[in-house]
Amino acid sequence: MIKQGTQSWNPGTYDTQLGFVSKLGKGILDWLDPQPGEHILDLGCGTGDLAVEIAGTGSKVTGMDQSEAMIVSARSKYPDITFIVGDGEQFSFEAPFDAIFSNAALHWMKNARGVIESVRDSLKSGGRFVAEFGGKGNVDGFVRAFYEVMPRYGIEPAERNPWYFPSIGEYTSLLEQYGFEVRIAEHFDRPTPLPEGDTGVMHWLDGFGDAFFKGLEDAARQSAKQEVYEAAKQKLPTASGVYLADYRRIRISAVKL
Ligand SMILES: C[S@@+](CC[C@H](N)C(=O)[O-])C[C@H]1O[C@@H](n2cnc3c(N)ncnc32)[C@H](O)[C@@H]1O
Repeated sequence: MIKQGTQSWNPGTYDTQLGFVSKLGKGILDWLDPQPGEHILDLGCGTGDLAVEIAGTGSKVTGMDQSEAMIVSARSKYPDITFIVGDGEQFSFEAPFDAIFSNAALHWMKNARGVIESVRDSLKSGGRFVAEFGGKGNVDGFVRAFYEVMPRYGIEPAERNPWYFPSIGEYTSLLEQYGFEVRIAEHFDRPTPLPEGDTGVMHWLDGFGDAFFKGLEDAARQSAKQEVYEAAKQKLPTASGVYLADYRRIRISAVKL
């Protein structure tokens, strides 16, 4: 049984308002370097836009995601690819993969040890684990806005925070503990313009901030979201009048020994 977490994903608005996430993730595909005939798992595949890029190189892709809604959307967009519902913190496959790939998903899986152990057990010896996700300090402007506002609504932000943003030292050490050799690791800033002026900030909160608002009555939820929105706008950097999401990403490429 797949555990139902605190996350809610809306595939329609994810694609139309937050499509930059998968577009910016395309860079990590060069690190994956998929080869024809390889079996590759896309972990936390969302609506499948990177799975289809990988499949385009001639490899056989399985996309896995915990959200049934995202998987239903991925299947309808790309019927030739296998998409399954599964929990990245605890999974296994009978036939091991040549590579496991993940974009913008691992920071939603707080049990990092469970993820890394499952990845290791689902890879062939010598198989690659290539991923991009949020690193230490990621979206700090938004995080600080939640921590400032939510206590006023009786919500303890630390208990709701759905993200795991490790340092590069922490994550690569974990990989080594679980039998990986880390070949490349990077932690970098990627300030990302939020489209359409102020609405982009609200779209970001709608798409990614739900865990903090869960359980509030409609009116309180609206008011809390508005306050977080105002607080975030004070904290986020801008360029040419456009708000920037203060993304800080980690990229890793590791091999199972
Ligand atoms: C920001 S989206 C990224 C989707 C896609 N990789 C992309 O680049 O567009 C994060 C995805 O991680 C998935 N996710 C979160 N926790 C998960 C878990 N424990 N197991 C599997 N998928 C998970 C979510 O359902 C969501 O589809």
